[in-house]
Amino acid sequence: MSDLTIQLTDHPKAKPADESKLKFGDLFTDHMLMMDYDEGQGWHDARIVPYGPLALDPAAMCLHYGQEVFEGMKAYRAEDGRILLFRPEQNFARLNLSNDRLCIPPVDEDKMVEYLKEFLRVEKDWVPHSKDTSLYLRPFIIAIDPHLGVHSGKHYYFIVIASPVGAYYPEGLNPVSIYVETKYVRSVRGGTGFTKTAGNYSASLKAQSEAEEKHYTQVLWLDGVERRYIEEVGTMNVFFKIDGEIITPSLDGSILGGITRKSAIELMHSWGLKVTERRISIDELAEAYDAGKLEEAFGTGTAAVISPIGFLDWGDTKKMEIGGGKIGPVSQRLYDELTAIQWGRTKDPFGWSVEVCK
Ligand code: COI
Repeated sequence: MSDLTIQLTDHPKAKPADESKLKFGDLFTDHMLMMDYDEGQGWHDARIVPYGPLALDPAAMCLHYGQEVFEGMKAYRAEDGRILLFRPEQNFARLNLSNDRLCIPPVDEDKMVEYLKEFLRVEKDWVPHSKDTSLYLRPFIIAIDPHLGVHSGKHYYFIVIASPVGAYYPEGLNPVSIYVETKYVRSVRGGTGFTKTAGNYSASLKAQSEAEEKHYTQVLWLDGVERRYIEEVGTMNVFFKIDGEIITPSLDGSILGGITRKSAIELMHSWGLKVTERRISIDELAEAYDAGKLEEAFGTGTAAVISPIGFLDWGDTKKMEIGGGKIGPVSQRLYDELTAIQWGRTKDPFGWSVEVCK
């Protein structure tokens, strides 16, 4: 029996009338999952409560020094009505990696999966029905101590909110255009790049908004030291198919270890493709392009799923049009097979799909 308490809302909201108009992350469900941490007591008082504003002291440490971590995951509705999660244990394992780097006490990963399932049973009618829609789940932890000294907190909130979503990019499965960022950097080794923490994303905003002004969807980050080695795209890990081989930057400490990235690698291995995790420089990519060997580029992420990259703008140095503006065969197969597992349209040979309820 779970120790979770449940307080249901008296004012349920109307569900989206037209699921085809769902965007990403601007609509939230009726409830949220919460839990407190107090030093000496540990994590306690897990509860489902009506969704609503938090009462935070204006001195709460998360507001000043960004002691925060988060996750991104999705619940999917299968055609037969089952609600499914995708590798949820991986998200809570990664949350604890982020927790460790941000000096936040670890959570019990198995318990979090159980709480999340209970939360989803309460919110199950919010999991949308239409193709390519899902319920995005955002677990996060914030330090709430009212204190202005720069130290880690002794009191935290763990919260999960949920948002019915459609595609992250307005382009959907059409290839996106990406700007190769040479002025700003996201992260350096030894920093927090491998974690999911707010600071990584606030550090990216300037580059993102300048790229959007130039009509690019996101930026491709280069390493923070030599500004040569490819790291990741704004909200995705990145893969290239060069002369038949799939190459993705290795996780050297400044790149997020995406769960979709890991799953894509495992899927492609299972098809017998050669997948290599290694450092790859932007110069090497440009050379492969010039030699006609850059066959495909795509991003992977929970929010973005699989997103083909059709154009890379490396400023005055080079503009690369990849795959003639069309999705390539590997990206398409990855998208088809991954989404078939996530939405329960096929048998899951990997044991990734976790049933929540019918
Ligand atoms: C996700 O893919 O879930 C992410 O966390 C990206 C997000 C910042 C939109």
